[in-house]
Amino acid sequence: MALVTTTEMFKKAYEGGYAVGAFNVNNMEIVQGITEAAAALNAPVILQVSAGARKYASHAYLMKMVEAAVADTGVPIALHLDHGADFETCKSCIDGGFTSVMFDGSHHSFEDNIKLTKQVVDYAHSKGVTVEGELGQLAGVEDDVNVSEEDASYTRPEEVQEFVSKTGVDSLAIAIGTSHGAFKFKPGQEPQLRFDILDEITKLLPGFPIVLHGASSVPQDFLEEINKYGGAMPGAIGIPEDMLRKAAKSAVCKINIDSDIRMAMTAAIRKHLAENPSHFDPRQYLTPARQAVKDMVAHKISNVLGCNGKA
Ligand code: G3H
Ligand code: 13P
Ligand code: ZN
Repeated sequence: MALVTTTEMFKKAYEGGYAVGAFNVNNMEIVQGITEAAAALNAPVILQVSAGARKYASHAYLMKMVEAAVADTGVPIALHLDHGADFETCKSCIDGGFTSVMFDGSHHSFEDNIKLTKQVVDYAHSKGVTVEGELGQLAGVEDDVNVSEEDASYTRPEEVQEFVSKTGVDSLAIAIGTSHGAFKFKPGQEPQLRFDILDEITKLLPGFPIVLHGASSVPQDFLEEINKYGGAMPGAIGIPEDMLRKAAKSAVCKINIDSDIRMAMTAAIRKHLAENPSHFDPRQYLTPARQAVKDMVAHKISNVLGCNGKA
């Protein structure tokens, strides 16, 4: 099996009432942990690469690692650019073998977002690559850009039809209260998602795949582990998993998770080194780290997304 686009994945996810996990990859252990979990559970999976990941690992290394995972696992894998900031970045990923790109024009005006997204769609579609657009702005940190809560804004349902029809995007990321990073709500604040906005958008775009970014749930056991071994992340709060389960059954076909993987890895490494202070071979602490990624992704696939057995 070769890398696939998101078209077939989303069609089956929409009809089947589940979502496909989109997990950020930055190195070999993360690629292996995610794809081993997907293979073990016979699940489709999206590996997504941010500009920061391309800078850290390089396009060529990421490409080869993902190709190795495709050959190794046999499950459908899409390789997706996360938060493409401009046409050149999207083009470089399309030309370099990605099967899907996101153009994130959410920081632009509505008109410019349409114009810039359409330019990416035209090029991507001419190469058989799918495109995710975004309307509305999430709070949190992405690629060192910090969007404050005041600047974040929910997606306006009245804009979605015009955006989708004028740009030709294949999926749409919306803002309904999720946010990037591990600190999504203030301590004491009741986590809430605007399912009413999602419902309205679903009615306006029947059958159209919706994407949720910022969907890490910050499981308390990992947080406790990180805090126990010296990494203080006091007050980290994620999206409750029952809300994500509900979203996965709806028009939401792609759910983005990065922070939970970071925390799972870091917790495993901190624990290993605290318990084995004499270890200095990276394989000794990266083996449990890779296993922690696999366990986290397996949990998401089976208990949150519902895409197990859907490859
Ligand atoms: O949305 C942001 C993702 O978590 C990627 O984060 O830009 O630090 O690689 P990054
Ligand atoms: P989290 O920070 O909640 O994991 O979100 C990741 C994301 O949306 C990547 O695009
Ligand atoms: Zn995101």
